[in-house]
Amino acid sequence: MLIWIPHYLLRTQLNISVLPHMHHLLALLLLVVAVCKLTALIVKRRETLRNLEAFPGPPAHWLFGHVQEVIKSRTPIKKQCCNVTRYKYFQYPFAFQIWFGPFVSFLNIHHPDYVKTLLSTTGVYGLLVSSGQKWFRNRRLLTPGFHYDILKPYVKLMSDSAKTMLDKWESYAQTSESFELFEHVSLMTLDSIMKCAFSLNSAFNVRLSSHFSGTNAYIKAVYDLSFLINLRFRVIPYHNNIIFHLSPHGFRFRKAVKVAHHHTEEVIRKRREELKKETELDRIQAKRNLDFLDILLCARDENQHSLSDEDIRAEVDTFMFEGHDTTASGISFILYCLACNPEHQQMCRDEITYALEGKDTIDWEDLSKIPYTTMCIKESLRLYPPVPGIARKITKPLTFFDGRTAAAGHCCICVYLEIWVFDPLRFLPENVSSRSPHAFVPFSAGPRNCIGQTFAMNEMKVVIALTLRRYQLIEDPDRKPKVIPSLVLRSLNGIHIKIKPVDHQP
Ligand code: HEM
Repeated sequence: MLIWIPHYLLRTQLNISVLPHMHHLLALLLLVVAVCKLTALIVKRRETLRNLEAFPGPPAHWLFGHVQEVIKSRTPIKKQCCNVTRYKYFQYPFAFQIWFGPFVSFLNIHHPDYVKTLLSTTGVYGLLVSSGQKWFRNRRLLTPGFHYDILKPYVKLMSDSAKTMLDKWESYAQTSESFELFEHVSLMTLDSIMKCAFSLNSAFNVRLSSHFSGTNAYIKAVYDLSFLINLRFRVIPYHNNIIFHLSPHGFRFRKAVKVAHHHTEEVIRKRREELKKETELDRIQAKRNLDFLDILLCARDENQHSLSDEDIRAEVDTFMFEGHDTTASGISFILYCLACNPEHQQMCRDEITYALEGKDTIDWEDLSKIPYTTMCIKESLRLYPPVPGIARKITKPLTFFDGRTAAAGHCCICVYLEIWVFDPLRFLPENVSSRSPHAFVPFSAGPRNCIGQTFAMNEMKVVIALTLRRYQLIEDPDRKPKVIPSLVLRSLNGIHIKIKPVDHQP
């Protein structure tokens, strides 16, 4: 039968009587593929269950696994523990297995000593970023880009971006309506990363409503990619490459990747031209502020090898995504937390007013003068971590302090949400020193921690200080955020607050 197929296809006049056979054959083929795939998944599930035997977890729904509990657990219920949290602490200490659907599982880690073992070991790799030797070399070449000499002038750039956004908020301050702030903040952090990383002025005035109307294709592409990457993580069928590839979202994703790559390649090419004559960072710095792109282009390893264009593009992409979406999520939830906690908000405002001495801007030196605000920022990062889970694939068996071992090949995820009460005093130095340093790891820890941590903390301080100086933040009890599990923490219905101008009476 199979031998005859090419022969039929070569015929100029297709014999109609053959068509039903073709359909049957195709259906049979699809059935065989589906059965093989399903068998492979069932075998993998059995193997996973065997390997995670030492880490029992709460009962899982046969189809959804723990998805429903996880979604419920992200709802901010003050002073109340949700199902998963209760399980975590009382029934399944340190770590337990968690299922997303019938075939995808993680080892959910929720104890500082387990977190420490996982993040300090070298037999693991991140799922989103490069691994091994290449990561090690690139990380070393990138580190000088986060030296405080480089970060210092960025404070002014961040402050300018924040002011542009706050000017736009003037119209919201005149009404008693709440407004959605995440989109505003996200555009602002994108604007500031473009200025700091590539000395590019983004078209910050592009409108969000009809989504940029093609004026700034790159911004639209980055914005779309952030949305689609998070969407793909949330929608379980999209974890399959073929389904995602064939879906309309997959099509949009490929289109956005093309635009982003094209833009980045152009920026690199132009800067290479510009730097042809000048390859010494010191000499460039004498003329203008350095940005990340200068650092990347001038970086040399011990053999005087520079990064390839492809490597630079990959690093630029990582910066753009790690650098704007995470910080936008952080800032948005901090503003929301302060709106819900007016007494802490006022203490921050008093501190900021005193530190800024009447200035309408914030300088590098001021960043260390606002410790209470810094504690509120950390407390919000604890309650609403912008990166809610840190995934690692173990390449060799990993034994934890209580003697239990996770087999190679498993993904671990650290979820470190514990208590729902907003209490910045947790971050008083005396309270911090009595806790494990691995109890609070919003920027991860160990060799692969967040390289942009100081950059992000600076930006959060700048934006919070300038916002509180100008506006009073008020919670809208009718529009609470519906927090959803995503790569970067988001709210399904946006983040809404009301604002009023601050009365600057002496
Ligand atoms: C509030 C803001 C931020 C948070 C909470 C955050 C959090 C994190 C976390 C948890 C990781 C580890 C991810 C993993 O191992 O799976 C990470 C890695 C990373 N972050 Fe951030 N990040 C923030 C802002 C930034 C910024 C502003 C930049 C760049 C300008 C940045 C650049 C990176 C890079 C390049 C990595 C990969 C590091 C490596 O693998 O060596 N991040 N970040």
